[in-house]
Amino acid sequence: MKSTGGTETAKRKAGENAAEAVSSGMVVGLGTGSTAAHAIRALGRAVDDGVDIVGIPTSFGSRELAIECGIPLRGLDEVDGIDLAIDGADQLLVETGSCIKGGGAAHSREKLIASVAEELHLVVDETKTAARLDHPIPLEVLPDAHTAVSDAVETFGGEATLRRATNKDGPVVTDNGNLVCDVAFGAIENPAELATELSSLPGVVEHGLFVAMATAVSVGSEVGVETTRY
Ligand code: A5P
Repeated sequence: MKSTGGTETAKRKAGENAAEAVSSGMVVGLGTGSTAAHAIRALGRAVDDGVDIVGIPTSFGSRELAIECGIPLRGLDEVDGIDLAIDGADQLLVETGSCIKGGGAAHSREKLIASVAEELHLVVDETKTAARLDHPIPLEVLPDAHTAVSDAVETFGGEATLRRATNKDGPVVTDNGNLVCDVAFGAIENPAELATELSSLPGVVEHGLFVAMATAVSVGSEVGVETTRY
């Protein structure tokens, strides 16, 4: 798993806080990353205690962890809906719940599952909050499309970098067999407008801007957790 800022205590407080809302009978989207992992582990303990849930993983990594934790899993096409998705974020605007995701290259499936879920509870440590979104936006792109997409984003002010693997030669390859371009735009004045522009680019499978999708966010710190609902 990639390492990110923030302490494990802060991440654990946020992740466990969101997991508290889960009860028997629920279908739960299982997010990706080090903070969502704390929620998955808490759900695994709840399953051990007899809570009857079904998990829908957002990535190979979250599936692996959920199996290890004993959470029964299904595919998205095997359930009627998702009650709650719990997921992390790389940068979060608490005011609106909009965020940037995809640090773990799992944002396409994360967004799909978030869009199906009745509720999306984002869990972050306090280092992820910001007054304005300015983190590079990950774009999952078809392999053949990475240069064309990199050129296209330049026309509206983006600078793309193909994400390179650290323990493999060449680029990061997503769970879906695609590549990731991280696109820096500086401070993003209008996330909704940019999200529409990015979605319109041929070759882009999905981008990591999640505009006002969250129904709740929990921000963990060393001393506690603060939850905002939308
Ligand atoms: C995965 O692609 C991401 O969207 C993660 O949810 C995000 O990177 C947050 O990860 P951490 O909780 O490890 O910071």
